[in-house]
Amino acid sequence: MCGIVGYVGNKNAQDFLVSGLKRLEYRGYDSAGILTLSDDGKATLIRAKGKIANLEEKLAKLKRSDTIGIGHTRWATHGEPSERNAHPHQAGPIYLVHNGIIENYKELKKATNGHEYQSETDSEVLAALINSFYKDGSHPLINAVVQALKLVKGTYGIAVVSVLNPDEIVVARSGSPLVIGVGHDETLLASDASALIGHTKQAIYLNDGEVARLTKNSVEIKTLNAEPVSAKVEEIETNLAAIQKGGYEHFLLKEIMEQPDSLVETLRGRVNAEEGTVRLGGPGLKEAELRKIKHLIIVGCGTAYHAGLLAGYYIEKFTPEITIETVIASEYRYRQAYIPENSVALIVSQSGETADTLACLREIKQQGVKTIGIVNAIGSTIAREVDGGTYVHVGPEISVASTKAFTSQVIAMVMFGLTIAQAKGVKRTILKPYVEEIAKLPEEIRKVLGEADQEVKTIADKYNGYDHAVYLGRDTAYPIAMEGALKLKEVSYIDANAYAFGELKHGPLALIDDRFFEVAFLPEGELYEKAVSNVQEVLARNGHVIAVTNVPRFDLHVENVVKITTTLTIFAPILMNLVSQLLAYYVTVAKGYNVDQPRNLAKSVTVE
Ligand code: G6P
Repeated sequence: MCGIVGYVGNKNAQDFLVSGLKRLEYRGYDSAGILTLSDDGKATLIRAKGKIANLEEKLAKLKRSDTIGIGHTRWATHGEPSERNAHPHQAGPIYLVHNGIIENYKELKKATNGHEYQSETDSEVLAALINSFYKDGSHPLINAVVQALKLVKGTYGIAVVSVLNPDEIVVARSGSPLVIGVGHDETLLASDASALIGHTKQAIYLNDGEVARLTKNSVEIKTLNAEPVSAKVEEIETNLAAIQKGGYEHFLLKEIMEQPDSLVETLRGRVNAEEGTVRLGGPGLKEAELRKIKHLIIVGCGTAYHAGLLAGYYIEKFTPEITIETVIASEYRYRQAYIPENSVALIVSQSGETADTLACLREIKQQGVKTIGIVNAIGSTIAREVDGGTYVHVGPEISVASTKAFTSQVIAMVMFGLTIAQAKGVKRTILKPYVEEIAKLPEEIRKVLGEADQEVKTIADKYNGYDHAVYLGRDTAYPIAMEGALKLKEVSYIDANAYAFGELKHGPLALIDDRFFEVAFLPEGELYEKAVSNVQEVLARNGHVIAVTNVPRFDLHVENVVKITTTLTIFAPILMNLVSQLLAYYVTVAKGYNVDQPRNLAKSVTVE
């Protein structure tokens, strides 16, 4: 949520700031701004409401050769999206960009009564506070920043520059990520490493409670308590191709289509189909520890939560004596939930930065419970704070709606479940079918994507005029229905809700009329006939049903059927989810909306 960039070096700062912001635009796109300083401290501030393209238009008339600057792309919290609320914010000689929320900004505002406020943001209060300690440069900027931050309650990733010292950037973090890129005669800064790709491979991930002073050839880090920190330089592994559209019109379609390959990356070195076993090194739990597990708490938000729900359904099918509770992080963090002995928590997050998920991780860890991360973003905060973990390795997911991460999160968690079951001595004959299907899944995904793509597009053209949709499923197809409804609503703005088939008659059946269409997931299995009866109930009320099924004998007279041909049975629902992803994509494209950056949303939700 909100993207930050910074540059100090010999090259054109505006160029890096704008290209970096474009890569971070998924973090927020309500407004954007950049500020650069000339060698003699002349400031050029450019801000624009809306997308970075608007900023670029203004920039064309204000080109500078400045070699230091900071930039920001905003997801509005305090104050509407507008130019005056856009960052950077100014207070005297100081300019600041901020990601996060200053909770006590009202109180702090009183301490800065000399400052004439230009915006409604909490961030400007922080700029003014820093300025009050800076005293026109009579104190080092870093000291003024530290003094101000000691008074702050809330979360922040900040970058600060002063016109009086146009060769340094001071940065600090608490709760909002910052990565420093170390180049030759240049130092770069970004909210995530994707903005640094192509400039440097050397990165330093700042930790909470750290503040740093960046010049073109130095990075000095210390804690807010003035203890020096020796920086750990890490290698950025992502390449440029991974963050480009690669011939696709949108990132969403690219990421849907990448799933056969991204899942292979999740499975690499972890699955032995012949033996019917899996091996995960990352969680770092000994056999004896795995054997003892009786409770699994799975924590996530949005799509990660749905992945956890689905994985939970699977794991309890093959692991004896285990209770699984999948929880929404924003709820769980404030529950007074009792965690029994022999529990392990799976912390699921694509970005590894989601504020609520991170808060749960810290809370759970404090209770002495082992935490295992199911994370995509390498080096992210959650990945670094968990006791152990499994990276899903799907590569950057840029479209705000999560797709490829979901598939791999489910399978990574199922593999963790299989690891527990193996340790508990569950018979190979029970586990082997799961492992075999996991090994086949990437190719089955490739096949279904190939076959269903145009078919779903045709269906999308028929249904994009509806305002409401109901997604239905039971057992493992229920979380698939939930994820399908989320996909549709977040990108197409069609009001979509999911229900367990069995719940239909307890309320939702009252909805069925011509304003609604229904997507029914009907996988082969022991509950198939029951689900079919539920569809009949919808049809009897003239429902507009799209059925998604892998049952060859399916013969209900519904408006549309998407038939999945697959040899898989256990993981057929995951293949059905591909249909949901494509449907959401094509409906949205037909409506002409921005499918990669839906209104009001952002990808990395670093505020509560
Ligand atoms: C946001 C994104 C979703 C994502 C959720 C959790 O809402 O738009 O796509 O599922 O956050 O994010 P995480 O990075 O923790 O998986």
